[in-house]
Amino acid sequence: MALQDQAEFDAVIAADDKIEPTDWMPDGYRKTLIRQIGQHAHSEIIGMQPEGNWISRAPTLHRKAILIAKVQDEGGHGLYLYSAAETLGVTRDQLVAALHAGSHKYSSIFNYPTLNWADIGTIGWLVDGAAITNQVMLSRSSYGPYSRAMVRICKEESFHQRQGYELLIRLCEGSSEQKAMSQDSIDRWWWPALMMFGPHDSDSTHSAESTAWKIKRVSNDDLRQQFVDATVPQADYLGLHIPDPDLVWNEERGHYDFGPIDWEEFWQVVKGNGPLNRERLDHKRAAWDDGAWVREAAVAHAEKQAAREFESRRTA
Ligand SMILES: [Fe+2]
Ligand SMILES: [Fe+2]
Repeated sequence: MALQDQAEFDAVIAADDKIEPTDWMPDGYRKTLIRQIGQHAHSEIIGMQPEGNWISRAPTLHRKAILIAKVQDEGGHGLYLYSAAETLGVTRDQLVAALHAGSHKYSSIFNYPTLNWADIGTIGWLVDGAAITNQVMLSRSSYGPYSRAMVRICKEESFHQRQGYELLIRLCEGSSEQKAMSQDSIDRWWWPALMMFGPHDSDSTHSAESTAWKIKRVSNDDLRQQFVDATVPQADYLGLHIPDPDLVWNEERGHYDFGPIDWEEFWQVVKGNGPLNRERLDHKRAAWDDGAWVREAAVAHAEKQAAREFESRRTA
């Protein structure tokens, strides 16, 4: 039976069970989830742009097929997540409108440009890699539809991560130009990838509540550390240099120490002043307008089907 009140909700959270759409839940819990799942869905959709940019320029048919499939997966992730958000009483149209109006954010990482082919590898390796670190944690989130969507998404993300890393292995085994291209790429993406985990725990406004509600189960800084620890040996294997002079293994902590993040850059991109914020949203809005006829046709088709079904039932 659906939960009826705060006490029952608290008991489910304490027992590490799942909250489901028909359950009673605090307003703040619902609002936080709508914001977070919406932002997550938007990130998947906007994230199609930087990579989609290279589909027509992929160096081989094989790489093109992989990239198309990857970008299509991201579109699918967006759709699962919009559906998960809809279980909280918001419509997909409302969420899309909030994105277009700029009142909903998406991950800042997608406001950076993809300047060379190695970026396609680096995005899979670092950006999808950072996303997985975060999403594996979210697959244990207290909201049932969100946690279940994450299970499937994480499986696909780990494919994405491996295809990116494999692309870089090939480039790093190649010519000195290909190796230099890979190094240039990691130089540009390393710090923005670390920023994907969000502000330090001490500066993170939503973290405490989200942790209490078990929406979020590991802190930003712990996730970031986990990502750095996993990624440094992978960069070593590629023979690529991580652009951080302070990066060093700390035997005592059993973790890598790393240098300070440029939070000024982070906040500038969040506020809309990143390299491509304007282009990404303009492109998204234009695609929405261009697709109006598809939505109209789909609605007209659905209405026709319903009318036909009604008619056949009436005459049966
Ligand atoms: Fe994704
Ligand atoms: Fe992905």
